[in-house]
Amino acid sequence: MTSNCELQGVVYNGKHGYSSGMENSRKVVRTAIKQILQCVDNLMKSEHDQSRTISIAEFGAADGGVSLELMEAVIDHINQLSSGIRDITIVYEDQLFNDFNVLFKTVNAVGSDMCMELSANDNVHILASATSMYRICLPTGSVDLAFSSMANQWLSKKPCDINDGVFQDDCNNDELESFRQQWQIDWQQFLWCRAKELREGGYLAVISFLTDENGRRNEHAGEDSYHIFSGIWKEFQQTGKISEEEYINTSCVTYIPTEAELVQPFHTDMNGYLTLVSCSQKTVEILPCPPNNTSIEDREMFVDRSLCCIKPWLYNILVSGLSPDRTDADKERLLDVYFKMLRNILMQMTTFCPIIYRTASVIAKRT
Ligand SMILES: C[S@@+](CC[C@H](N)C(=O)[O-])C[C@H]1O[C@@H](n2cnc3c(N)ncnc32)[C@H](O)[C@@H]1O
Repeated sequence: MTSNCELQGVVYNGKHGYSSGMENSRKVVRTAIKQILQCVDNLMKSEHDQSRTISIAEFGAADGGVSLELMEAVIDHINQLSSGIRDITIVYEDQLFNDFNVLFKTVNAVGSDMCMELSANDNVHILASATSMYRICLPTGSVDLAFSSMANQWLSKKPCDINDGVFQDDCNNDELESFRQQWQIDWQQFLWCRAKELREGGYLAVISFLTDENGRRNEHAGEDSYHIFSGIWKEFQQTGKISEEEYINTSCVTYIPTEAELVQPFHTDMNGYLTLVSCSQKTVEILPCPPNNTSIEDREMFVDRSLCCIKPWLYNILVSGLSPDRTDADKERLLDVYFKMLRNILMQMTTFCPIIYRTASVIAKRT
């Protein structure tokens, strides 16, 4: 039986689309807009040729909806700082299985909840690349601003199975070390590729999930949330809903680095190619919780909003472990049961917890 590892990171574009439920992620990107506009300022001020095309690229863009506000702010800023009409290209990159049709609809505001239409400006040209952020995706020295948010946790390959769980939190020491090493190789490869693509003086801005000094990562339902998610999957295996092999195949192919791990390559291998401008930790409350004595209706609303933030990234991780011999309808039915169980668990929690994303914004300049 083969697992569908490559599907794992692909976001779930269910009924409501990915980024329409992702107000949460937009809050994170908002925290970096000011710093990124400063990079654009620096770029434009050091520029002699006022007419050349400015090239922006986003890596691991999903449907492009989460970065729309940022892209709009960057376009406005470039337009304001340019004396004449300036051509701008935005290349949205993601892996092959990403739904690029949804991406083009989102950035053109067609059938999407978002009303920003990037290509409404005649000088803005939207392009796409279905490659891998661990490969060179654009011509050497052609990019002015490279951006990526909440994507660099995805590894290029699964280093080993996680035998008793699904997430980094479930790893034993050896498994964790294998994931950590794979992430380091991939991060360095990501940085090499971006350094090659960036024009001298160009900027790279990456928003990464983070493991903080106390070992805490994102919280979706309190500090124990990843154990809640894998606990339900374990129960599925113990009650025969899924096989042992499917359970083990579900190992989530991500690693969330510490700040030290994020900045390490800038002091060693990338030295002379990319200069670290800043690395700032940001803890963002992306869904505040209601008071504990709240009404049942508010409780339900909070839990449903939480699930809207959880399902788009968790759905395909779970599906990826299921046997290809299962029909799509069977997979959908299983996942329905899973998310109903998760909803019941969240509804029964005695105290509410906000959804918290722990992130770092890394800004580097091509030397
Ligand atoms: C959690 S989503 C983040 C999407 C969006 N950037 C945001 O901020 O919400 C992670 C994205 O990374 C993409 N991804 C995972 N591995 C990738 C790879 N090797 N190359 C390019 N994109 C990848 C996934 O397809 C997915 O769209």
